[in-house]
Amino acid sequence: MEHSNFHNIFFLWILFVTLENCLTAEGLGVNWGTRATHPLPPDIVVKLLKENGFNKVKLFEADPGALKALGRSGVQVMVGIPNDMLATLSGSVRAAEQWVQQNVSSFISKNGVDIRYVAVGNEPFLKAYKNMFLNTTLPALENVQAALIKAGLGRQVKLTVPINADVYQTDTGVPSGGDFRIDIHDLMMKIVKFLRDNGGPLTINIYPFLSLYADPHFPIDFAFFSGTSSPVVDGSISYTNVFEANYDTLVWALEKNGFGSLPIIVGEIGWPTDGDSNANIEYARKFNQGLLDRITRGIGTPKRPTPPDIYLFGLIDEDAKSIEPGNFERHWGIFYYDGAIKYQLNLGNKRSVTAAKGVRYLARKWCVMTPDANVNDPNLADSINYACTYADCTSLGYGSSCGELDIKSNASYAFNMYYQTMNQQKGSCERFNNLSVITTIDPSPSPSNSGNSSHCRFEVMIDLGKHESRVNPGTSSATMINHFSLVLFVLVFVLDYYMYLP
Ligand SMILES: *[C@@H]1O[C@H](CO)[C@@H](O)[C@H](O)[C@H]1NC(C)=O
Ligand SMILES: *[C@@H]1O[C@H](CO)[C@@H](O)[C@H](O)[C@H]1NC(C)=O
Ligand SMILES: *[C@@H]1O[C@H](CO)[C@@H](O)[C@H](O)[C@H]1NC(C)=O
Ligand SMILES: *[C@@H]1O[C@H](CO)[C@@H](O)[C@H](O)[C@H]1NC(C)=O
Ligand SMILES: *[C@@H]1O[C@H](CO)[C@@H](O)[C@H](O)[C@H]1NC(C)=O
Repeated sequence: MEHSNFHNIFFLWILFVTLENCLTAEGLGVNWGTRATHPLPPDIVVKLLKENGFNKVKLFEADPGALKALGRSGVQVMVGIPNDMLATLSGSVRAAEQWVQQNVSSFISKNGVDIRYVAVGNEPFLKAYKNMFLNTTLPALENVQAALIKAGLGRQVKLTVPINADVYQTDTGVPSGGDFRIDIHDLMMKIVKFLRDNGGPLTINIYPFLSLYADPHFPIDFAFFSGTSSPVVDGSISYTNVFEANYDTLVWALEKNGFGSLPIIVGEIGWPTDGDSNANIEYARKFNQGLLDRITRGIGTPKRPTPPDIYLFGLIDEDAKSIEPGNFERHWGIFYYDGAIKYQLNLGNKRSVTAAKGVRYLARKWCVMTPDANVNDPNLADSINYACTYADCTSLGYGSSCGELDIKSNASYAFNMYYQTMNQQKGSCERFNNLSVITTIDPSPSPSNSGNSSHCRFEVMIDLGKHESRVNPGTSSATMINHFSLVLFVLVFVLDYYMYLP
């Protein structure tokens, strides 16, 4: 009697655990990047994640502030290892052990962070990197795996490598012709085998926006999920969006080489809202809503019906990212940098997006061009240039949200971005050759009657507690942006979707 009762309870428990795993295996993932002059405080970000139903998050590095805030939050974490650490980690198991100890083990045991994956490198085989990480990625993967096993985390934490779609290609122009790029074919085989042997997935980043950005003749409706007039026909399958075609090219490449059942994660996918004429709120909403609907309905691809885990890119805008790939790089967020809502999205079950709560802003003050200053002033160009060297002016470009402002508003936008980036510090609105003045009247175009400028925002940035404490205006933030643009080369995408053209 006792015995069978125990059995029943045990059975129920197993059932619960299985059910719970099924439920948590679904859900939404998102990338949390932190390349911003005014990063949103980590505890506010974690609340933002939870309130919007994101139960998986991907970090590009083991940021201690982010990891601590994620402790005991119920959110599953993928921690990235930046490419510039691969050489060190490939050098010795000891280095990998230290990395795992400091960046993984301690956060799991002390802070209760639910780390599920470590992503080794970030698109290390991108053509643009000119083979720089070819020799170090696999040894780093092996060393980190050994370190995880030694730390007793071999089962709990799985390794993956996020790759860009340019590691595979198709010679026939359709997904069934998919195979890995010839120059890294052998290396990819070793990596894929290693992942399979250790229970890790392969992570792939897919960007239909970049297909469109690279090729003006790319059929625009093929980028979205609502059907196309020019499908790609592959045998009995008709592909109506580039996401499925691209993903299945990878599935074919894996299958052809004997790894047809290797799990795949979509590590980054999304659409930017500014910095290019195709990067706008309408397209971003259309793309992300189409994607979310697939996730909610559990739709896979023709070649692999089981849906992959998907991490949207990204959660919030990052104004200090390198704009090497294009001005849109700083505008991938579903939310603005401060967690404000950009556009409505149905996150499943008719649940809509919720803005960040508890955000503290600087005073409602803006730095603008003095009303009676002359637009022909010979110092104006230099002043704007100065502001835009140290602050983010990517919204001013052609086709961008503030791209149709008149000269005066254009200058005001630039001055204000500088002023806010410098935390409204004393003197920071006085650097523009007497052409600027502080105002308490919001200079943003009014949303209702300003046509193409209706999404142009004259920011007031969030309060990092720096506006009174420093006398020297801005050196540190300015150095920071410079530093980022020099050192960061993180997301350079190579754009190779011609093959999908009919
Ligand atoms: C992770 O650990 C290493 C020690 O190997 C340390 O140098 C590094 O700064 C840590 N943090 C991050 C974000 O990688
Ligand atoms: C990688 O290793 C090969 C063969 O040992 C060598 O020729 C090449 O220079 C190395 N590449 C880098 C970037 O270190
Ligand atoms: C506005 O400013 C940007 C950045 O300085 C510049 O590229 C653009 O041409 C300006 N537009 C006008 C109308 O002045
Ligand atoms: C700004 O105006 C002040 C007072 O009107 C003047 O003394 C100063 O030379 C001006 N500075 C510049 C850069 O024009
Ligand atoms: C707004 O943008 C569209 C498309 O870029 C353009 O055709 C239209 O003329 C613009 N409207 C105004 C008021 O400038």
